Parts: sequence; C-alpha cells; structure tokens
Amino acid sequence: MAVQTIRWDNGSLIIIDQTLLPTQYSEIALDTVEQVWHAIKTLKVRGAPAIGVSAAFGLLVALREKRPGSREAALRELHIAADYLATSRPTAVNLFWALDRMRGVADASPAGEDAAGLFRRLEEEALRICEEDRKVCRAIGEHGAPLIAEGAGVLTHCNAGGLATVDYGTALAVMFRAHELGRTFQVFADETRPLLQGARLTAWELMRAGIDVTLICDNTAAQVMREGKIQLVIVGADRIAANGDTANKIGTYNVALIAHAHNIPFYVAAPFSTFDRTLPDGSGIPIELRDPAEVTRGFGSQTAPDQVKVYSPAFDVTPARLIAGIITEKAVLYPPFTESISRWL
Ligand code: MRU
Repeated sequence: MAVQTIRWDNGSLIIIDQTLLPTQYSEIALDTVEQVWHAIKTLKVRGAPAIGVSAAFGLLVALREKRPGSREAALRELHIAADYLATSRPTAVNLFWALDRMRGVADASPAGEDAAGLFRRLEEEALRICEEDRKVCRAIGEHGAPLIAEGAGVLTHCNAGGLATVDYGTALAVMFRAHELGRTFQVFADETRPLLQGARLTAWELMRAGIDVTLICDNTAAQVMREGKIQLVIVGADRIAANGDTANKIGTYNVALIAHAHNIPFYVAAPFSTFDRTLPDGSGIPIELRDPAEVTRGFGSQTAPDQVKVYSPAFDVTPARLIAGIITEKAVLYPPFTESISRWL
C-alpha cells in the first residue's frame, strides 16, 4: 500500500503531483531542471527527504537536457544545476545534503572519464540516495513503533509520511510500523494551515493504510489534549541543529508548547540527513517565507481582504527542551541532545 512518491523510470523523473491530492492521484514526468525546481517550489513534491531525492534526480534531468559533450562540460552543467536547485526552498537541509553528495561524486570522478561515464556514476548515486531513504524510513519505523502504546492517541502535524519521502515516511513510518505489528491506536491529524498537508496528505495516507485517523483544525489540538485523547505527539523535521532544536512545518512549535503544558511527550522522527551539524542551535536555520496568496486565497477562494498584510513563514523552530526524543534510523536519541546527536552522528 506504500505510495511511490518519486521514481526514476528509464531515465525519466516521475513524481506524484501532491498539489492535486486528495481528490486526484496523478503522476507527472519532470523533463527539465526548471520543471524540477518549480515542482519543489510549488510543493508538487515536498517534505524534506523527498525534496532531497528529487533534487538528486533533478541533476540527472539537467544533464539529460543539456547534453554536455565532455566530463568538464558535464561538471560545469552539474554545478550550475545544483546551484539553481539549491534556490528552490531554503529550510529542509536534505536538499543541500543530497546536492552535496551528488557534487562530491562528480568532483571525485576520474579525470579521463567521458560525459556518459560520469552520468552513469551520478545515476548510481541518485539511485543509492533513493534506496537509502527507503531503508532509513523503515528503520525509523522500527525504532519508533514501541513508543506507541496499545490504545494510545497520537497527534501529528503536517505530513511526514510516504509522500514526504520516497515511500514510507518518518513520523508516519512509526505509525505504519505500529499498525503492521497489530497495535490499535488513534491518530489525530492537524489540518496544517495554510497548505493543509495534514488534511490533504496525512489523512489520505493513514486512511489508505487502514489506520484510525481523525482530522482536527490546528486550533483544536489543545482541546483534544485536555480531553485526554493524546498520549504522544510525533512530527517530522526539516532541519535539526546540533543541540536538537528542530525546524518543522509552521505550527509545530505551538504543538510542542501545548504538549509540554499537558505533560505529553513530543517526539521528532527524522533521518540523519536532516541533521545540520554546522548549526550549533536553531537560531541559524533559514526559514522560508511563502506567498501571501497561500493564506488569503488558499485553494481558490478569497478569505481575507485585498491588500491585507500577511506574514507567512513556512516553518518554525521547536527548542530542544520541548523534545522528549528524536527517532532516527539508528536509535531514539534522548536529551541532552548535544551529546546524543554527536555520539550517533
Ligand atoms: O512545506 P512542506 O510540506 O515541505 O513541509 C514538510 C514538513 O514540514 C515535514 O514535516 C518535514 O519535511 C518532514 S518530512 C519527513
């Protein structure tokens, strides 16, 4: 039942167009590097790991498109395309991580190699990044599943599911695995204004998997916690600093604060490719600002006066002190995070 969010099919990059879900399930081919950039920017493909994998394949798309005649020309085109794709979205570090991996392979390729040889080498690396994501997500599911007790209520924000990765997710991987193990639990999905990734994508994925999910407006989370319906929060991450401060979808910080106020453990699920060791804390994480129209005219209908001022950061940073644990592919990391992160990285 897992989705296939991204695939490299006979030299073509195919993605699910997530802007059409849940009413339309449609795959599209991205044939130019501009199309890849645009798909990332407009959230046709989104979620930190999925953005990274798409960008890695996006470099292959660029080389296919430009048809460089030598290794040197291919290297030039690759770096131009990588610099360009790096401008698509600033917060998810997986984008830069994947582009750097591809650049590293290209730069280290033998000087005598031709453009076709370099392309094959890069194709292997992109496929490796894709395959690693599948495995890492399953390992996250395995490590996290014991945290969901029989009968628990779990709250999640945004979409950290198969649609945010190659096929299995991070926060949702924990739920998928617990469900596969036969555990019964209930998920509350925040709808996640303004782009409704929780309503459109998380609810869709969990229902497809046969997991009991209830959609709530973002401003309902404190009330369901007070009613005793939530025992655990699990969210994904776009970038985690060396001290555990975590950037994730706007509204995640609110959820962490109210979970703390209700003594509910708040977990982050993320692969090591989402950690940014160059940042000592979350204050340096670049936060993407989105188009005001996503707030005032989301999904077609106008919901605010013309010309109203809008502030729309796409992400916020949850301080490490509010995080009970970080579920990774190697282990669940516990505070103090500066130590546990540096030990496991
Ligand atoms: O703007 P989006 O939809 O790309 O934001 C996605 C999130 O914030 C996810 O929670 C995060 O990328 C983790 S995905 C495994």
